[in-house]
Amino acid sequence: MRKLIVAIDGPVGSGKSTVARRVAELLGYTYLDSGAMYRAVALKAMRRGIPLDDAMRMDQLAKETRIDLVPTNSESSGAKAPGQESNAYAGAEAQTPYGTRVLLDGADVTAEIRTPGASQSASKIAVLAGVRRHLVAEQRRAGAAGGVVMEGRDIGTVVFPDADLKIYLDASVEVRAQRRLQEHMARGETISLEKMMEEVRQRDQRDKEREASPLVRAADALLVDNTAMDVEETARLIVMLAGEKQGSGASG
Ligand code: DC
Repeated sequence: MRKLIVAIDGPVGSGKSTVARRVAELLGYTYLDSGAMYRAVALKAMRRGIPLDDAMRMDQLAKETRIDLVPTNSESSGAKAPGQESNAYAGAEAQTPYGTRVLLDGADVTAEIRTPGASQSASKIAVLAGVRRHLVAEQRRAGAAGGVVMEGRDIGTVVFPDADLKIYLDASVEVRAQRRLQEHMARGETISLEKMMEEVRQRDQRDKEREASPLVRAADALLVDNTAMDVEETARLIVMLAGEKQGSGASG
């Protein structure tokens, strides 16, 4: 059976990570989390005290940084991370490991890149075209052989514009904020829904309005709105769509 490239893009709280991981598991594919790369570069910059808006130094930093995404698909299947119910949307910051171990210049930073500070910093450096150029090249190398489910913001538009299946995952702002809220509450943090909605809107704005590879639905991406769908329903829908692509032998 032909091994596909499945691209899943969408805004914060749309369930990309949880769904992509489950889709990879169901298809027997490798799960690749492109956001982890932006987080790793941001972490290195923070550690070195490099201003996140210094485009030249950040470009150089990304160039000389080695990031390895080590799939933990086989190890992790069946072993759920704490707080991870099979049907709960729990986003990036809630759980580690989650399908990928992230090595920054050889050192494991899987947990460290999930802090709220790293999230904010990642979204700041993600606006830099130079940083994106290096990371996109790495992402293409990682997925070139197919048999991958890669999630991010620009996978179907920039990284793999010829991906076999492109999904744009979305949900209402209220529901996405609720999902994030649950993650915070699971960590014992209190934050109001209003504040969380504001944060989600801010990150949406930064992702969608940046000049370099903004978050946008590719013309040929299928929109999956999972406002009223759980993880399993969403994942199985995507697996069904992948099956159709395989059946048709189409490459677009
Ligand atoms: O998906 P995430 O929250 O782990 O991503 C972290 C940041 O990186 C997020 O603010 C957007 C950015 N990002 C991006 O610009 N392009 C990608 N392909 C993946 C993530």
